[in-house]
Amino acid sequence: MFFSKSFFAAAVLATVLSVASAGSPHTQAVKGQVGAIQNAKDFCLFLPPMKGGDIAANEDRAVAFCTTAKVAPPKAGILPKGFIKSAHLVKTNNYIQITGRIDRTKYSLKRTDGGGQYDMKAPVGARCQGYNYFVELIEPDTNIYCIRCCKNKLDCPVNKSTYGCKKVLGGNYA
Ligand SMILES: *[C@@H]1O[C@H](CO)[C@@H](O)[C@H](O)[C@H]1NC(C)=O
Repeated sequence: MFFSKSFFAAAVLATVLSVASAGSPHTQAVKGQVGAIQNAKDFCLFLPPMKGGDIAANEDRAVAFCTTAKVAPPKAGILPKGFIKSAHLVKTNNYIQITGRIDRTKYSLKRTDGGGQYDMKAPVGARCQGYNYFVELIEPDTNIYCIRCCKNKLDCPVNKSTYGCKKVLGGNYA
């Protein structure tokens, strides 16, 4: 049994590896579940993981896509060129918000898609870097979007998802 030592070593190594992959104490966010807003040029939006995906149907697996790599948290994607048509920033002591127009065709979103909402619970665990809460609505049928990241829960209402950007967050959609 001259190989027993190395066999034992391999078994120990395999156990260590499987424990490590099963659960690290520094649990990483699931792929791309962290967004961010820095300013009207550098920010992220949550979108379905696949081009052309229905907004509401992908509430459980949306991922963050950012305008630039500079603002993108680890594992976030980069937004397709031309997808963001306009971006208007509102910043207060309590929240930061971007609203504006998209060109849905740049991500093959459907003209018939009335849109939906992404927030801390959709997908579960999603968040906005540096803030405690966020809410985003995106409406492919009318080519508008809005996202707000908040310190306080009340500034990021998540219980009006069917009202649309203009009623939930207000802002500029020119
Ligand atoms: C949403 O929640 C806020 C705060 O609790 C409440 O004032 C408001 O009436 C709710 N709106 C809807 C549409 O449920």
